[in-house]
Amino acid sequence: MEKTFYITTSIDYVNGKPHIGHALEKVQTDAIARYNRLLGRKVFFVTGTDEHGTKIARAAKERGIEIPEFVENNRQVFVDMDKELDISYDFFISTSDKDQHWESCKKIWMKLKDKGDIYKKKYKGTYCVGHEAFVTPKDLNKDGVCDIHNAAPEIVEEENYFFKLSRYTTQIKRAIEDEEMVIWPKERKNEIVSLLEQGLEDVSFSRPKDKLEWGIPVPDDKDHTIYVWADALVNYLSAIDYESEGAKFEFWPADIQVVGKDILRFHAAIWPAMLLSAELKLPKKIATHGFISVEGIKMSKSLGNVIDPFDVIKDYGTDAIRYYLLAEISFAKDGDFSYDRLKERYNGDLAFGLGNFISRITTLGERHVKGSLGDEPSEKTKEQIKQYFDKYNECMEGLRINEAISAIQLLIGFGDKKINESRLWELPEKDQETFEKELNDLAHIASTVALMFLPIIPSSSKEILKRLGISDIERKDEWKFLFKSGDPLFSHRD
Ligand code: MSP
Repeated sequence: MEKTFYITTSIDYVNGKPHIGHALEKVQTDAIARYNRLLGRKVFFVTGTDEHGTKIARAAKERGIEIPEFVENNRQVFVDMDKELDISYDFFISTSDKDQHWESCKKIWMKLKDKGDIYKKKYKGTYCVGHEAFVTPKDLNKDGVCDIHNAAPEIVEEENYFFKLSRYTTQIKRAIEDEEMVIWPKERKNEIVSLLEQGLEDVSFSRPKDKLEWGIPVPDDKDHTIYVWADALVNYLSAIDYESEGAKFEFWPADIQVVGKDILRFHAAIWPAMLLSAELKLPKKIATHGFISVEGIKMSKSLGNVIDPFDVIKDYGTDAIRYYLLAEISFAKDGDFSYDRLKERYNGDLAFGLGNFISRITTLGERHVKGSLGDEPSEKTKEQIKQYFDKYNECMEGLRINEAISAIQLLIGFGDKKINESRLWELPEKDQETFEKELNDLAHIASTVALMFLPIIPSSSKEILKRLGISDIERKDEWKFLFKSGDPLFSHRD
């Protein structure tokens, strides 16, 4: 049987429109999904939207729009963003989808309840609507305000259903330490382990219906609504038909779940506890990405510095934004977006670097080769290709996408040097045989570059392969090069 590979992004709140941070997570996950497809794995890639909760209900009311309509409109913008970013998801989940999601959510609730892990308790606490979570004084600043959402939490006194999270602390800690569930990168793992060492408290898993109408009703108590995180986390199961446990459920456990650093705690504590309670396997890896700032400043609506991915795509194109997010930002770390840096990367790496390299090869090939080339490359070229390709694979497997891109750049550099040192453009007049031998080597380099770039900048890579006359990337040994030049792949920006 083919090896399955299940990969997910977090699901975005639809209280507003997507920003470049949302785009970052989708592009990172997409690159990994595409890479794994190239390896021949049977990939299932899920993304979607988180559509319940107070935050969304309030945002709709503020705009005077009915909640379902508001949610639908905003969801569409996320779907459109994914399309524009060339996100190759296999399934898009929406938590307000009753058929796909609600039944799975109710099913897991009943499993937890049957296990004795759900109980009712009177509770007084402080709720941050921005977080959609109860917060404690240590989550707030000295004035009792949540710094992230710039608002004081609401005092809540109610009777809620609670989930016995505390019961699973030791088991989760062990699973993380033994790497049954890898928390990546290591620094994040250490953070979570020290959190677990302090112990976990039980969490509220419902809100009274009169306080939270917009959500999934608790299965056997219509006066309560399932707490938004207890609802949202289940998306990873409902997307693969947990309710019926049909054929798609073979994808569980997930291989990689990509989340932002701010929501790691939910995924490294509540989520595994729910799975343990429901007697399901834990995801193999939670990969945590950093946050993106803009020109060195935290992105925020109040500062008015939010970057709209659609604007960047309109100016530079899909592959340029994908390239920037993947090459400039290290997956595990915080990163920055700046138009100057984007232009630099675009002109330097794409227009001048990759674009020029491909154009030199295809133009000379089209002009001076009759028919096609297709010999094996020279030993030295073969060796160099292998060296960079191995490095690339190692980095992609390790989610070090930016380093994988550096390996591609080095291979382009090797190719460029080869063109210059052989004075390739002068060879056709002097020695056709040497010219064809050199060009054949370069075509192997260029095709490998395109192959390596497929998960990063898919449409440009496909165009490059087309200009080199390659239709079947799988059959590397049978590559025949038929050169065709064309418009610049990336035109220089002033
Ligand atoms: N709905 C929850 C997730 C539920 S998963 C079961 C949520 N939504 S969100 O819209 O607020 O965030 C979605 C993702 O975007 C999260 O992984 C979050 O970390 C990420 N980002 C939000 N702002 C970001 C940046 N500025 N930079 C990078 N990613 C950021 O949380």
